[in-house]
Amino acid sequence: MSEYSLSPTGEKFQLPDQKDYLEELERLKMLVNRQRSLKREIIVVMGVGFVGAVMAAVVADAEDSKGNSAKFVIGMQRPSTRSFWKIPLLNRGLSPISTEDPEVALMIDRCVNRKKTLTATYTYDALKFAEVVIVDVQCDYLKESLGNVRNGQAEMKALEESFETIATHISPNTLVLIETTVAPGTTEQIAYPIMRKVFRKRGINTDPLLAHSFERVMPGKNYIASIRDFWRVCSGINEEAKSRVIQFLREVINTETYPLTVLDRPIESETAKIVENSYRATILAFLDEWSHFAEQNGVDLMKVINSIKVRPTHSNIIFPGPGIGGYCLPKDGGLGLWAYRHIHGFEDDIFKITPLAIDINDTRALHVAQLTRDALRNMGRPIASAEILVLGASYREDVGDTRYSGSELIVRRLTEMGAELRVHDPYVLHWWEFEKQDEYPASSHSLKRFFRGQEKLKDLRVGQDLKETLHGTDAVIFAVRHQPYLTLDPDEIVNHAGGPIAVIDCFALLDDTKIKRYFELGCEVKGLGRGHVKRIKDQVREEKEKVLTENVRQGLRLKVRNKAL
Ligand SMILES: NC(=O)c1ccc[n+]([C@@H]2O[C@H](COP(=O)([O-])OP(=O)(O)OC[C@H]3O[C@@H](n4cnc5c(N)ncnc54)[C@H](O)[C@@H]3O)[C@@H](O)[C@H]2O)c1
Repeated sequence: MSEYSLSPTGEKFQLPDQKDYLEELERLKMLVNRQRSLKREIIVVMGVGFVGAVMAAVVADAEDSKGNSAKFVIGMQRPSTRSFWKIPLLNRGLSPISTEDPEVALMIDRCVNRKKTLTATYTYDALKFAEVVIVDVQCDYLKESLGNVRNGQAEMKALEESFETIATHISPNTLVLIETTVAPGTTEQIAYPIMRKVFRKRGINTDPLLAHSFERVMPGKNYIASIRDFWRVCSGINEEAKSRVIQFLREVINTETYPLTVLDRPIESETAKIVENSYRATILAFLDEWSHFAEQNGVDLMKVINSIKVRPTHSNIIFPGPGIGGYCLPKDGGLGLWAYRHIHGFEDDIFKITPLAIDINDTRALHVAQLTRDALRNMGRPIASAEILVLGASYREDVGDTRYSGSELIVRRLTEMGAELRVHDPYVLHWWEFEKQDEYPASSHSLKRFFRGQEKLKDLRVGQDLKETLHGTDAVIFAVRHQPYLTLDPDEIVNHAGGPIAVIDCFALLDDTKIKRYFELGCEVKGLGRGHVKRIKDQVREEKEKVLTENVRQGLRLKVRNKAL
């Protein structure tokens, strides 16, 4: 029976069979011969996911000093049911990832259809033609429990298989550039021995030319710039690999404006990536305890942060929102911990801050469920069977990337508590973490494994019409600082909801005027790190009491006057 791969828009693509492989190889041979006659280098990008698809386009779009395309790129993707669709899409000139950067779609179309410097394939035979192979396959970290990163492991299988496959096919002087975020030590202690062994079996006596240079991709409006026009760190396994990777990066990204940092050994480049992301995870996590402090002591954490930010030395202090998502921050520190024990063989426990930061970030969103429960309780409504609307599914503002978003945890916990959830997000059409929760991001990876009663969430659909999703809701959770949410008017929200609601502000979206207005409209407001809402609530109550007292007084005065008449 034929197997199919389904694209996000529902298009079905049949997986290739043996006959297709032969034809595909012939197609590639013809393409490569033609490209070689044009003096173009052949670059294979392995893994055309969030990073690889765009990196492939950046390389295919690069031009030499005379304005000529000097590289021909073959994006190579294994033909799994989950990912095969990316290949036919790319070959039509369509981006396999949806992004807010319009340049991504334009660049892929330009390279495939006009410059003809980009193609995609499913056959590993493509590797035979490569002068450079760029590795952009994933290296996940699987957590066994929620809020305990120590209880987990790096998933090395896809990566290890890739190294073996690459070594089986490439020519001895192909440069292999690993861009995947890996456990520090991977290039020298995992990739090198695997590839060397295969080389020796093939009778090749030289060492594989391995280099590492990590990506700093930022999903969103500046996707392309975050790859092409940004600083890079790199290193090679030996002098030849090092000089080849420097040369290659100079040819494909903007190293003139954003100079390269060259480190002595790949483990240093690998460590730089892990430390960079652990640093960010830590400065976010540390504010969690101050967020609780703020809530319990009438303090607005957002104002505190803004008052500190003015110091240039503290300008990167950031409000943590409902949990720290994205693909990288929740996992990268785990890769570091894992490497220390399982690659380098140490038994002692040197890591204190990095795992704690990840654990705090991984569970921060659960507090939002408590705030929602309390706000509804104050309004005399039980959480069980309450209709709750989450505004924002993605992990950060103005992007459609939902990977490990805090919103996912909010939905899962509130569902477990018996609430009925709805969601709206202007940037997300499908929330695959729910719609395909049995297989996405992978069968064993769904966060549903940490919660009960999650089956019905397969039917959760992302609303695009805010008015419609608001109708009849008991609570609104502002989860992401998407631009369209910043200007929402409390009167309109309450009007569309059909009456007073609980409002939960997870990301300091609401200014004091709006918070006050919600209270005036009879709503209950709570927010992460926003202890001052209680003061505003008291103020509104006092004002209401004053008006009431004044009305009573006036009523009395009228009564007295009427009596006198
Ligand atoms: N997404 C980001 O924002 C981001 C930012 C910086 C760094 N990174 C790092 O970049 C790396 C890639 O991340 P991503 O987001 O692109 O992951 P992804 O899951 O979107 O893409 C990986 C791709 O590799 C393919 N693949 C797996 N094994 C393969 C094989 N043997 N042969 C061919 N293809 C194979 C998968 O099918 C998938 O399409 C990760 O290490 C990640 O940590 C990601």
